Amino acid sequence: MTHPLRLGVNIDHVATIRNARGGDHPDPVRAAEIVAQVGGDGITAHLREDRRHIRDEDLARIQDATDLPLNLEMAATPEMLTIALRHKPHAACIVPEKREERTTEGGLDAAGLHNTLVPIVDQLRDANIRVSLFIEADQRQLETAIRLGVPVVEFHTGEYAHAILDGDTERTAKELRRITDMSALAAKNGIEPHAGHGLTFDNVQPIAAIPQLAELNIGHYLIGEAVFTGLEGAIRRMRDLMDEAR
Ligand code: PXP
Repeated sequence: MTHPLRLGVNIDHVATIRNARGGDHPDPVRAAEIVAQVGGDGITAHLREDRRHIRDEDLARIQDATDLPLNLEMAATPEMLTIALRHKPHAACIVPEKREERTTEGGLDAAGLHNTLVPIVDQLRDANIRVSLFIEADQRQLETAIRLGVPVVEFHTGEYAHAILDGDTERTAKELRRITDMSALAAKNGIEPHAGHGLTFDNVQPIAAIPQLAELNIGHYLIGEAVFTGLEGAIRRMRDLMDEAR
């Protein structure tokens, strides 16, 4: 069965540009309002330990500005858990985080971190926050997600995006197969599969065509494209490509 495919727009990099000059422009809240106006389905924001883009005060401002569900990307740390419990976003996606990385490189090692994740997942769930784990499309990681009882997993599409950039058709096909198979397996086990990272106008359609996927979270490319065509136009085009692929 094919589900409707939601588009969550990650607005982190509006804050990256803002922070480059230390002022308050461009404001990620304005981006969130535009996402709502053009029919985006959700706002995604990653509060990193180093606050390099989104900051604590942005979260409440985003929540006040739109009725769209907020998907908070967070590391599995006590600090981030406290913040999530304070803001009560609609969803929390647990991501791996390394201070020196440029972006989230690879999925969470949910299997290795199982015991750390149990209390975090439990407390988020008790607060009615929809918990997601950002994992590679790997059976072992998915099995841990099933054991942890999370309602959602988000599959990391970075390797797929890199394989396309490298022009490696064999690796592209392999990555796509992994994501397709694990999306089916997640759905079969009652977990809603999402996907994201490195998605662009050029590579989104084979991912959007995976019938079980319920949501894509897309950020950097949309914000970059917005420089040329405006955020509204960039989101509309992504939405059209996603719909066309279904
Ligand atoms: N999903 C998750 C869990 C992420 O960490 C990110 C990057 O912050 C994205 C989606 C969006 O990736 P991109 O900015 O490459 O579109």
